[in-house]
Amino acid sequence: MLSLPIVTPRLRIRPFLPGDEGPMMDVYGDADVMRYIPDGPLSDEEAVRRIMDEQLVAQTARGYAYYAVELVADGSVVGDAGFGFFEPTGDVELGYTFARRAWGWGYATEAAAACLAAGLAGLDVPRLIAVADVENVASHRVAERIGMRRDGEIDVHDRRHVLFVSEPAA
Ligand SMILES: CC(C)(COP(=O)(O)OP(=O)(O)OC[C@H]1O[C@@H](n2cnc3c(N)ncnc32)[C@H](O)[C@@H]1OP(=O)(O)O)[C@@H](O)C(=O)NCCC(=O)NCCS
Repeated sequence: MLSLPIVTPRLRIRPFLPGDEGPMMDVYGDADVMRYIPDGPLSDEEAVRRIMDEQLVAQTARGYAYYAVELVADGSVVGDAGFGFFEPTGDVELGYTFARRAWGWGYATEAAAACLAAGLAGLDVPRLIAVADVENVASHRVAERIGMRRDGEIDVHDRRHVLFVSEPAA
């Protein structure tokens, strides 16, 4: 089982809470951030609330979901990190999405590394994957920095994606 919150030197990764809609709108409502996400930016906080609720339901139902990423320093929410189910391969997928103002500080790498370690230790899966549009180089760099290895490409949502994998240590 995953132990929450997942805490790193600068970040606290925890289930969504009421009040996260505003900061998460800065993430899911931004066309730059959502450029490589299939349905594009969300239109309003109600849509954000639905995503947050879906993640709370998923956490209860299957033990993993996407979480809010909070800065330890001031408690502000700067993005999401966590896990989804990737139907085309049947794997649990590691994902990370950060507000534009929070790019370039290493937060995504720090969150993704901690989630990868927690997921490999706490989820009963043979491997974790990450999937990123071939043009989403910033996301590739995060996956590579946390030690995931490229494992080919796959077409999803009419776009070519790079598949990254990581297995638990033997
Ligand atoms: C993917 C995404 C989270 C990556 O953001 P990012 O800011 O590039 O990644 P990080 O937060 O790990 O920051 C890394 C950068 O910060 C720099 N950095 C600064 N301080 C740092 C620190 N203390 N530790 C590590 N890196 C640091 C690194 O050098 C690196 O810069 P570089 O890529 O130019 O070499 C971001 O582009 C995003 O939210 N994209 C939209 C959503 C998305 O596509 N998600 C992935 C779907 S598959």
